[in-house]
Amino acid sequence: MNNNRKLIVSKIRNGTVIDHIPAGTALHVLRILGITGREGIVVAVLMNVESKKIGKKDIVKVENKELDPNEVNKIALIAPTATINIIRDYTVVKKVKVKLQDIIEGIIRCPNPNCISNRPSEPIKSQFKVIQKYPVKLLCLYCGRYVTREEIATQLL
Ligand code: CTP
Ligand code: ZN
Repeated sequence: MNNNRKLIVSKIRNGTVIDHIPAGTALHVLRILGITGREGIVVAVLMNVESKKIGKKDIVKVENKELDPNEVNKIALIAPTATINIIRDYTVVKKVKVKLQDIIEGIIRCPNPNCISNRPSEPIKSQFKVIQKYPVKLLCLYCGRYVTREEIATQLL
Protein backbone atom coordinates (compact mmCIF):
# COMPACT_ATOMS: atom_id res chain seq x y z
CA MET A 1 0.00 0.00 0.00
CA ASN A 2 1.11 3.56 -0.70
CA ASN A 3 2.68 4.78 2.52
CA ASN A 4 0.76 8.05 2.44
CA ARG A 5 -2.50 6.17 2.59
CA LYS A 6 -1.54 3.99 5.49
CA LEU A 7 -3.63 4.50 8.59
CA ILE A 8 -1.36 5.50 11.44
CA VAL A 9 -2.56 5.46 15.02
CA SER A 10 -0.14 5.65 17.91
CA LYS A 11 0.66 2.60 19.93
CA ILE A 12 -0.22 3.01 23.57
CA ARG A 13 2.20 2.70 26.44
CA ASN A 14 0.02 1.13 29.12
CA GLY A 15 -3.60 0.15 28.97
CA THR A 16 -5.98 -1.91 26.89
CA VAL A 17 -6.60 -2.33 23.19
CA ILE A 18 -9.93 -3.89 22.29
CA ASP A 19 -9.45 -5.16 18.78
CA HIS A 20 -11.64 -7.01 16.24
CA ILE A 21 -14.80 -5.25 17.40
CA PRO A 22 -17.61 -5.71 14.84
CA ALA A 23 -17.68 -2.61 12.62
CA GLY A 24 -19.97 0.08 13.99
CA THR A 25 -20.00 -1.20 17.58
CA ALA A 26 -17.13 0.80 19.10
CA LEU A 27 -19.43 3.39 20.68
CA HIS A 28 -21.30 0.65 22.53
CA VAL A 29 -17.98 -0.61 23.86
CA LEU A 30 -17.14 2.88 25.10
CA ARG A 31 -20.51 3.03 26.83
CA ILE A 32 -19.92 -0.31 28.50
CA LEU A 33 -16.61 1.01 29.81
CA GLY A 34 -18.30 4.20 30.99
CA ILE A 35 -15.96 6.31 28.89
CA THR A 36 -17.37 9.69 27.96
CA GLY A 37 -14.16 11.41 26.88
CA ARG A 38 -14.29 13.72 29.87
CA GLU A 39 -12.04 11.52 32.02
CA GLY A 40 -8.89 13.07 30.66
CA ILE A 41 -7.41 9.71 29.64
CA VAL A 42 -6.17 9.03 26.13
CA VAL A 43 -8.73 7.10 24.09
CA ALA A 44 -8.43 6.17 20.42
CA VAL A 45 -11.45 4.92 18.53
CA LEU A 46 -11.14 3.55 15.03
CA MET A 47 -14.23 2.61 13.11
CA ASN A 48 -14.70 0.63 9.95
CA VAL A 49 -11.03 -0.13 9.35
CA GLU A 50 -9.84 -3.07 7.28
CA SER A 51 -9.44 -6.37 9.06
CA LYS A 52 -7.93 -9.55 7.68
CA LYS A 53 -10.12 -11.59 9.96
CA ILE A 54 -13.57 -10.03 9.96
CA GLY A 55 -13.81 -7.76 6.90
CA LYS A 56 -14.20 -4.43 8.63
CA LYS A 57 -13.68 -3.80 12.30
CA ASP A 58 -13.55 -1.19 15.03
CA ILE A 59 -10.73 -0.77 17.54
CA VAL A 60 -10.79 0.96 20.92
CA LYS A 61 -7.57 1.87 22.70
CA VAL A 62 -7.73 3.11 26.26
CA GLU A 63 -4.67 4.26 28.10
CA ASN A 64 -4.07 3.40 31.76
CA LYS A 65 -7.09 1.16 32.11
CA GLU A 66 -7.44 -2.59 32.52
CA LEU A 67 -10.87 -4.18 32.30
CA ASP A 68 -12.68 -6.05 35.04
CA PRO A 69 -14.42 -9.39 34.32
CA ASN A 70 -17.85 -7.77 34.34
CA GLU A 71 -16.80 -5.33 31.62
CA VAL A 72 -15.30 -8.19 29.59
CA ASN A 73 -18.56 -10.17 29.81
CA LYS A 74 -20.54 -7.16 28.61
CA ILE A 75 -18.17 -6.64 25.71
CA ALA A 76 -18.57 -10.31 24.75
CA LEU A 77 -22.30 -9.75 24.33
CA ILE A 78 -21.94 -6.66 22.13
CA ALA A 79 -18.70 -7.61 20.38
CA PRO A 80 -18.32 -11.42 20.40
CA THR A 81 -15.34 -11.32 18.01
CA ALA A 82 -13.33 -8.91 20.18
CA THR A 83 -9.79 -9.50 21.36
CA ILE A 84 -8.60 -7.79 24.52
CA ASN A 85 -4.94 -6.87 24.54
CA ILE A 86 -3.29 -5.72 27.75
CA ILE A 87 -0.41 -3.38 27.03
CA ARG A 88 2.42 -2.72 29.45
CA ASP A 89 5.38 -0.60 28.47
CA TYR A 90 4.34 -0.70 24.79
CA THR A 91 4.23 -4.52 24.73
CA VAL A 92 1.20 -6.78 24.44
CA VAL A 93 1.56 -8.80 27.65
CA LYS A 94 -1.78 -10.58 27.41
CA LYS A 95 -4.22 -11.26 24.60
CA VAL A 96 -7.58 -12.87 25.24
CA LYS A 97 -10.51 -13.44 22.96
CA VAL A 98 -13.75 -12.61 24.71
CA LYS A 99 -16.03 -15.56 25.26
CA LEU A 100 -19.78 -15.48 25.15
CA GLN A 101 -21.16 -17.52 28.03
CA ASP A 102 -24.06 -19.97 27.43
CA ILE A 103 -26.16 -18.24 30.07
CA ILE A 104 -26.09 -14.47 30.53
CA GLU A 105 -26.83 -13.44 34.09
CA GLY A 106 -27.62 -9.94 35.21
CA ILE A 107 -25.83 -8.04 32.43
CA ILE A 108 -28.93 -6.76 30.66
CA ARG A 109 -32.51 -6.03 31.58
CA CYS A 110 -35.31 -8.02 29.92
CA PRO A 111 -37.09 -5.81 27.33
CA ASN A 112 -40.46 -7.19 28.43
CA PRO A 113 -41.74 -4.68 31.01
CA ASN A 114 -44.01 -7.36 32.51
CA CYS A 115 -41.18 -9.84 32.99
CA ILE A 116 -40.88 -10.98 36.60
CA SER A 117 -37.15 -10.16 36.47
CA ASN A 118 -38.12 -6.47 36.09
CA ARG A 119 -40.24 -6.29 39.22
CA PRO A 120 -38.57 -4.06 41.76
CA SER A 121 -39.97 -6.27 44.52
CA GLU A 122 -38.30 -9.39 43.13
CA PRO A 123 -34.61 -9.37 43.92
CA ILE A 124 -33.76 -11.75 41.10
CA LYS A 125 -31.05 -11.48 38.50
CA SER A 126 -32.13 -11.53 34.87
CA GLN A 127 -31.17 -14.74 33.07
CA PHE A 128 -30.93 -15.36 29.35
CA LYS A 129 -29.94 -18.38 27.32
CA VAL A 130 -27.76 -17.67 24.28
CA ILE A 131 -29.64 -19.33 21.43
CA GLN A 132 -27.59 -17.86 18.59
CA LYS A 133 -24.10 -16.38 18.59
CA TYR A 134 -23.75 -14.55 15.25
CA PRO A 135 -25.67 -12.34 15.42
CA VAL A 136 -26.33 -12.86 19.07
CA LYS A 137 -29.87 -13.74 20.09
CA LEU A 138 -31.00 -14.39 23.63
CA LEU A 139 -34.01 -15.98 25.28
CA CYS A 140 -35.25 -14.72 28.65
CA LEU A 141 -35.49 -17.70 30.97
CA TYR A 142 -38.20 -15.96 33.00
CA CYS A 143 -40.69 -14.88 30.34
CA GLY A 144 -39.58 -16.47 27.05
CA ARG A 145 -38.98 -13.11 25.36
CA TYR A 146 -36.35 -13.15 22.59
CA VAL A 147 -33.75 -10.40 22.70
CA THR A 148 -32.02 -9.29 19.50
CA ARG A 149 -28.56 -7.86 19.06
CA GLU A 150 -29.99 -4.36 18.57
CA GLU A 151 -32.00 -4.57 21.78
CA ILE A 152 -29.05 -5.76 23.83
CA ALA A 153 -27.27 -2.42 23.43
CA THR A 154 -30.26 -0.53 24.85
CA GLN A 155 -30.88 -2.99 27.69
CA LEU A 156 -27.42 -3.01 29.23
CA LEU A 157 -27.52 -2.62 32.99
N1 CTP B 1 -1.25 -2.05 20.12
C1 CTP B 1 -1.20 -0.73 20.58
N2 CTP B 1 -0.16 -0.33 21.37
C2 CTP B 1 0.85 -1.18 21.69
C3 CTP B 1 0.81 -2.51 21.24
C4 CTP B 1 -0.25 -2.92 20.44
O1 CTP B 1 -2.09 0.05 20.30
N3 CTP B 1 1.85 -0.72 22.45
C5 CTP B 1 -2.40 -2.49 19.32
C6 CTP B 1 -2.07 -2.88 17.91
O2 CTP B 1 -2.13 -1.74 17.07
C7 CTP B 1 -3.16 -3.87 17.58
C8 CTP B 1 -3.45 -4.52 18.93
O3 CTP B 1 -2.93 -3.65 19.91
O4 CTP B 1 -4.33 -3.20 17.15
C9 CTP B 1 -2.83 -5.89 19.07
O5 CTP B 1 -1.46 -5.79 18.86
P1 CTP B 1 -0.62 -7.01 18.25
O6 CTP B 1 -0.90 -8.24 19.04
O7 CTP B 1 0.80 -6.57 18.13
O8 CTP B 1 -1.25 -7.07 16.78
P2 CTP B 1 -1.68 -8.35 15.92
O9 CTP B 1 -0.64 -9.40 15.99
O10 CTP B 1 -2.08 -7.84 14.57
O11 CTP B 1 -2.99 -8.83 16.72
P3 CTP B 1 -4.01 -10.00 16.34
O12 CTP B 1 -3.22 -11.24 16.07
O13 CTP B 1 -4.85 -10.12 17.61
O14 CTP B 1 -4.81 -9.52 15.17
ZN1 ZN C 1 -38.08 -11.66 30.59
